Amino acid sequence: MELQISSRVCQNLLITVALLICFSAIFYTYYKPTVNWLKWPIVSRCNSCSDICINAFKMPNQTEMVNNTCIVNFTSIKILVTQSEPVTQTDPDTILLIWMWPFGQKFDLGICSSRFNIHGCRLTNNRSQFKNSHAVLFHHRNIRGDLSNMPTLPRPPFQKWIWMNMESPSNSRLHSTLNNLFNLTTTYRQDSDIMIPYGRISEKTGGSTTYEIPYKNKLVCWIVSNWNSNYKRSQYYGNLKQHISIETYGRAFRRPVTYANYSDLVSSCKFYLSFENSIHKDYITEKLYNPLKLGTVPVVLGPPRKNYEELIPGNAFIHVDDFSSPKELAEHLKLLDQNESLYRQYFTWREHFVSSTTSFGLEHACWACDHIRRNKNYRVVNDLNSWYWG
Ligand SMILES: *[C@@H]1O[C@H](CO)[C@@H](O)[C@H](O)[C@H]1NC(C)=O
Ligand SMILES: *[C@@H]1O[C@H](CO)[C@@H](O)[C@H](O)[C@H]1NC(C)=O
Ligand SMILES: *[C@@H]1O[C@H](CO)[C@@H](O)[C@H](O)[C@H]1NC(C)=O
Ligand SMILES: *[C@@H]1O[C@H](CO)[C@@H](O)[C@H](O)[C@H]1NC(C)=O
Ligand SMILES: *[C@@H]1O[C@H](CO)[C@@H](O)[C@H](O)[C@H]1NC(C)=O
Ligand SMILES: *[C@@H]1O[C@H](CO)[C@@H](O)[C@H](O)[C@H]1NC(C)=O
Ligand SMILES: *[C@@H]1O[C@H](CO)[C@@H](O)[C@H](O)[C@H]1NC(C)=O
Repeated sequence: MELQISSRVCQNLLITVALLICFSAIFYTYYKPTVNWLKWPIVSRCNSCSDICINAFKMPNQTEMVNNTCIVNFTSIKILVTQSEPVTQTDPDTILLIWMWPFGQKFDLGICSSRFNIHGCRLTNNRSQFKNSHAVLFHHRNIRGDLSNMPTLPRPPFQKWIWMNMESPSNSRLHSTLNNLFNLTTTYRQDSDIMIPYGRISEKTGGSTTYEIPYKNKLVCWIVSNWNSNYKRSQYYGNLKQHISIETYGRAFRRPVTYANYSDLVSSCKFYLSFENSIHKDYITEKLYNPLKLGTVPVVLGPPRKNYEELIPGNAFIHVDDFSSPKELAEHLKLLDQNESLYRQYFTWREHFVSSTTSFGLEHACWACDHIRRNKNYRVVNDLNSWYWG
């Protein structure tokens, strides 16, 4: 699609349309360069407007003079945004300041390079480094609503503030004060600037392709600490247990599971109820990834199957929506319990892939630092509230 625009109308049109598209494009394409409405190339041509284009975008690389015609190529915005500039050893370190430890949990600040092969990033929690820090990481749950525990010094112009949150909107308090404060987001959501999922499926590097299913002596298990009868999962469980026996653990059932016992317990179950406490796009938590890692078949309740399949193989789990009722699900689980070869099919993906869980906080800090190191462009998250809670 090409738009021919005369130079008179070019100026205003470009600035408004371009800024709009540009910032929405940057906003939506960081990690999702396949968003449909950006697939077609939009090219505007207008005479002698290169300076305007460049000023409007502050991105000389997006504009090109051909035969005295300025071409603004909107499609290449996403390329600029997603493309990484080569990182050389001589680059000065990028400093990321962790303003507050997420949930007070500390982690090793010196291991971005050894754990994730991210070089040139220096993490610190020393607030005296504020003035030199290229980025400052803030964990949502630790931010006071009146912002009284946020930095008070003026923000250096190059500094980016990063908003971190791994809780779903239902479980996060909305502060009206958070708009126009941050430059980047790091959350579990795929449309965050730095998306950090709760876990990952990755290709096996070498090793055997056979997978030995752990020994099982329980059919269906569920560990719950927070009981809320209004949750969809509580209602589903109430119905399901009338058709199949479920081993329940956790504070909610006065059968707490210690950290030391967790792995053995989950491994020994044929099925595990990976029921999320609230239903939101991409909100797929350790309730899925831990059981996957431990060699059980997760039965998921959360966003639609399609959303899970964006992150993990479709044959690695059972979705409650695959069945028209809890009774039918129970019948299917009983069938799989009786038929070993059918049950084994839920493990075929393990021939080529492994599952892992992410390190809370550490990965956010390392990958956020890497991101700002590679992406120098200007950015503001204007309406955090309607993006996250809208
Ligand atoms: C943008 O252009 C400059 C020179 O004008 C070049 O050095 C730089 O590599 C370009 N960046 C990208 C991302 O193409
Ligand atoms: C630039 O102008 C020349 C001569 O008018 C023409 O041959 C050429 O095709 C033009 N190039 C573009 C990219 O429009
Ligand atoms: C726009 O830029 C992209 C990436 O640089 C390029 O592939 C595409 O051909 C350009 N489109 C036009 C019409 O110049
Ligand atoms: C924090 O940074 C300041 C300024 O660079 C330095 O003087 C101080 O020793 C640092 N504190 C710690 C605990 O590293
Ligand atoms: C970061 O966002 C703030 C607004 O919240 C803005 O004033 C500042 O210029 C932005 N900085 C960068 C480096 O993008
Ligand atoms: C928990 O683990 C401890 C130590 O490994 C073991 O002695 C105990 O029997 C386990 N408890 C359960 C309920 O499996
Ligand atoms: C298990 O299911 C498969 C596929 O439906 C079937 O071919 C096979 O006979 C079943 N095995 C047993 C032991 O029922």
